[in-house]
Amino acid sequence: MKVELRETNDGSHTLFIPELNENYHSHHGAIQEARHVFINHGLNPLLNKNYPINILEVGWGTGLNCLLSCLFSENNSIRYIGIEAFPIEQSLHEALNYVMHLENSSEIYERLIMASWDKETKITNDFTLKKIHTKIQEWETEDKFDLIYYDAFGPRAQEEMWRKETLERVFCMLKKDGFFVTYCAKGQLKRDLKELGCFVETLPGPPGKREMTRAVKN
Ligand SMILES: C[S@@+](CC[C@H](N)C(=O)[O-])C[C@H]1O[C@@H](n2cnc3c(N)ncnc32)[C@H](O)[C@@H]1O
Repeated sequence: MKVELRETNDGSHTLFIPELNENYHSHHGAIQEARHVFINHGLNPLLNKNYPINILEVGWGTGLNCLLSCLFSENNSIRYIGIEAFPIEQSLHEALNYVMHLENSSEIYERLIMASWDKETKITNDFTLKKIHTKIQEWETEDKFDLIYYDAFGPRAQEEMWRKETLERVFCMLKKDGFFVTYCAKGQLKRDLKELGCFVETLPGPPGKREMTRAVKN
């Protein structure tokens, strides 16, 4: 699939897929959106609770959410698994400008993008990453996660990622009281999450988007 580099309104890059007419991030600001949805409303409330945090990301993509999680983890111990069905070319990773916008991030981003697939890699003393090259629908695990970043393409572009059976599969991987966060705030998603037995919160979205969703497993 053809992929184009685009600049978003906060100056940070995203990728655009013409075939799907879909961006990897909000055009209002890629870093701004990722910080708001995944860090402020996902990771931050779980920090400093004295246990290692297990994070699963569905749609590892450019590695932006992973980079921010590593930078803002405040020395908490984090084990991060990133599932990605269609990894991007190394040259695209190198063209992205995230390290220009995030202090002290270039060495860490380099380690994230160079980490081997399907193998756990120590990125810092407190942060390990395992990138897994597969579709979430085909991935089997016994692991349970404290936090799931659900960062699939939107329902218009990739309806199968938002089907109840896909969500249910992912929900089985969440620990009790674990958080599932996503930028999507569609009514159908929230109804499905409630039916799966979650407490669903509609939170203010990042600039340019009214709402986002966080679900807590009961
Ligand atoms: C919205 S983009 C992700 C953005 C990413 N989190 C980032 O910060 O760059 C969606 C990602 O999901 C990946 N993807 C698509 N179908 C998938 C599937 N079935 N399982 C896992 N990942 C998938 C895409 O290749 C793409 O990288």
